[in-house]
Amino acid sequence: MKSVEKLTSAEAEKELDKLAREIAEHDRHYYLQDAPVISDAAYDALRQRNAQIEARFPLLVRPDSPSQRVGAKASARFAKVVHARPMLSLDNAFSDEDVADFIARVRRFLGLKEDEEVMVTAEPKIDGLSASLRYEKGLLVQGATRGDGAEGEDITANLRTISDIPLRLKGKPPAILEVRGEVYMTHKGFAALNKAQEEEGRPIYANPRNSAAGSVRQLDPAITAGRSLNFFAYTWGEISELPAKTQTGMLEKFTDYGFVVNPLVRRCQTLDQILKFYRDIESKRVRLGYDIDGVVYKVDRLDLQERLGFVSRSPRWAIAHKFPAEQAETVLQDIEIQVGRTGKLAPVARLRPVTVGGVVVRNATLHNEDEIARKDVRIGDTVVIQRAGDVIPQIVRVLDDKRPRGAKPYKFPTKCPVCGSHAVREVDEKTGKEDVDRRCTGGLICDAQTVERLKYFVARDGFDIEGLGGTMIELFHEKGLLNEPADIFALTEKPEKVSKVLAEHRAALSEERRAAEGKDPIVTKVGKSKAKKEEREDKVVENLMAAIAARRKIGLDRLINALGIRHVGETTARLIARHYRTINAFLKGMESDSARAELESLEGIGGVVAEAICDFFDEPHNIKALHRLLAWLDVTPMAAPAKSSPVSGKTVVFTGTLEKMTRQEAKARAESLGAKVSGSVSAKTDIVVAGPGAGSKLKEAQKHNVQVLDEDAWLKLIS
Ligand code: IVH
Repeated sequence: MKSVEKLTSAEAEKELDKLAREIAEHDRHYYLQDAPVISDAAYDALRQRNAQIEARFPLLVRPDSPSQRVGAKASARFAKVVHARPMLSLDNAFSDEDVADFIARVRRFLGLKEDEEVMVTAEPKIDGLSASLRYEKGLLVQGATRGDGAEGEDITANLRTISDIPLRLKGKPPAILEVRGEVYMTHKGFAALNKAQEEEGRPIYANPRNSAAGSVRQLDPAITAGRSLNFFAYTWGEISELPAKTQTGMLEKFTDYGFVVNPLVRRCQTLDQILKFYRDIESKRVRLGYDIDGVVYKVDRLDLQERLGFVSRSPRWAIAHKFPAEQAETVLQDIEIQVGRTGKLAPVARLRPVTVGGVVVRNATLHNEDEIARKDVRIGDTVVIQRAGDVIPQIVRVLDDKRPRGAKPYKFPTKCPVCGSHAVREVDEKTGKEDVDRRCTGGLICDAQTVERLKYFVARDGFDIEGLGGTMIELFHEKGLLNEPADIFALTEKPEKVSKVLAEHRAALSEERRAAEGKDPIVTKVGKSKAKKEEREDKVVENLMAAIAARRKIGLDRLINALGIRHVGETTARLIARHYRTINAFLKGMESDSARAELESLEGIGGVVAEAICDFFDEPHNIKALHRLLAWLDVTPMAAPAKSSPVSGKTVVFTGTLEKMTRQEAKARAESLGAKVSGSVSAKTDIVVAGPGAGSKLKEAQKHNVQVLDEDAWLKLIS
C-alpha cells in the first residue's frame, strides 16, 4: 500500500471512495447482521487509513465518509474503569527553597545524614493529560483516562490510534503491566488541527492540552486517529513483577518494550544539579515543540520510594517544580477590530512590544465584546498579559492604579469597520441569549468577506459556473475585476480584460517557475508554441464567458442559496423559494413589515434563520448589490409541487449509496413530487430509500416499522 504522504489527490479521492464503501459494507455485516467478516484490527486499520488520508486531504472528505458518522462500535458514553492502583497527583514546589525542603524531608524521613546525597531523576512535566495503559502478556488490553484518580474512562479504541502507544510490547515485559504517561499534542500538530478546524467552521481549541484532551475523548476513534497525538511513558500502575530497581532503570525498560520516554530525563545527585537542570529546561522550554509546565523530581531508588510511601494523594518521593506563568506588563495602545471571512468582528489588542517567555509579543486577543466589558479594558491601560504555550497571548487583567486619567470605557463598534454595514449579535431562540460574536451583515459587499462569498456564489449548489474556480476569483478580485456577484456577469462584457489578466498571471507563474529552477529569465520566444498557447488561452476565456452567460437564467432556489445569507443553505433556500415562487414576490415579502413573521410561519424555518434573512435585507448595501445582480438575470419561478403523486405529503429519508442518481438529484426529484425529504428517521418517516452501505438509518427504519425501498423500487414508485 502506498504511504499516505505519497498519494496524489486523484489517488486519494479514489481510495476514499473505495474505503467509504468497504467500511460501510463491514458496518453492515457488523451491526445489521452481527457477523463481522474481518477482524477488529483490520477494520480499525481501514478506518485509520481513511482518517489519515482525510487528514492530509481535508477537501476530499466525502459526505458519506465513515468519519462523518459515529462509528459502529462507539458507545454514547465511555465505560468506567476502576484503576487497579490509583492514579495520583504530585505536590508542587514553586521556589528553590521548596525544592530544598523536599530533599530535606526525604532525607529526614529516611533517617539519612544531612549531607548524605539522594539520587533523584529530573524530567520535564508534560502539559497534556495522563493515561494508563494496561498490558496483559504484552498486549494492550485497556487504556483509560485518569478521571478522579480512582476511576477513569475507557478510551482504549482512541488510544490505540496513537502511534507512540505500542499495541504489542517488545522484549520480555511483566505479564501484567500498567504503563502510565502523558498524551500530548505538539505545537505543530496543534496549529495544523486548528487550521483545519477553522477551515471547516468548527470551534478552535484554546491550547494543545485542551485539544489533546478533546481528541482522545472523541466518540469516534477515526477522529482521534486523524489528530496528531503523542505519548511519553513516565510511570506505572499495577505490575506483576518489577523489572528494575530504579526509576531510571524502569524508564530504560519502557524504552525496550517500545515506549517513547522523554529524552531530557537526567539523574541528579545534588540540589545544585537539580536546580541547574531546572533552569536549563526552562531556557529550552519555548523551543521544545510541546508544552511543559515544570520539572518533576523523583527519588531514583524504588526501595526508597517504597519506604517513603504517600501522604494523602501524592507520593512523598516526588515533587513537581512548576515554572512561573509567563506573564508580563505592557500598555494597550489600541484595539483593532478585524473582520473575518465569515463576517465575525474580532477585537485585537495592539500592545507596546514586550518579551514574554522569550518571545516578543505585540498583539493579544481580546476575544469579544463581553470579555472587554468584563475586564473593563480601556485603551491606554497597563495590562498583564500571559502566554500559554503556543497560543495567542491573552490579557489577564488591567492594573487599575496605572490607568491614565480620562481613559474611557471601550465602545464596541456596531458597524463593520470594513464596509460600514450593520454588525449584529444573534439571539439564540432557545436560551434567549445573545451570541458572543458580533457579525457584519454586509455579506454581498463586505471586502473582508468578498472572496469567500464569491466562491460560495459560484459553487455547485449556487450558480455552478464551470471554469470559475477559487484561484480565478482571487485573481480577478486582486485585479479589481470582481467585488460583488454582479461583477461576474459584467465580465462577459470585457473579455479582453479577462484575457489580459489571465495572460499576465500565466507569465508571472512561468517566471516564478523559471526562477525556482534557477534559470535566467528568457526573452519571449516568438514562435509556434506561443501562438498555440495564446490560442488555448482564447479558448479558455471564450468557454468561461459562455459558462457565465449560460447562468443568467437561474432558479429562484439556487439564487437564494447563492446569496450566502447566514444559516441559509440549500434546504432553507428551497423552502423559501417554494413559498414565494417568484423573485418579485420574494423581494416584496422581504420589504414588508411582516417579513419575519411570514418566514417564521414556514415549516423548517426558525427564529434565528428568519432573523438572519431579515438582517440581510435590512442592509441597504445588500439590496443594492442584489438589484445590480438581478439586472443580469432571468430568475425562473419555482414550480408548484405536484398535488397528487404517490409520494406527495410523505416524509422520505435517503440513506446508503444511490447508484442511479446523486443524493442531490434524488432529493430535488422527491421534493418536486411533493415529498418532504428529511435527514433522520423517526416514527414520522413514511419511506426510507436505502442503497448499499445503509447503516443506522436502516436499523431505525426497521425499529419504527417504516417502509423500506431500494433504489429501483423507489424509481418505479415515482415514475
Ligand atoms: S509522575 C505518582 N511524571 O502531572 C506520580 N507526572 O500533578 C505520578 N505529569 O497527573 C505522576 N509529566 O498528568 C509524572 N514526567 C511526569 C509528568 C507527570 C506530567 C502530570 C501527570 C500527573 C500530574 C501530577
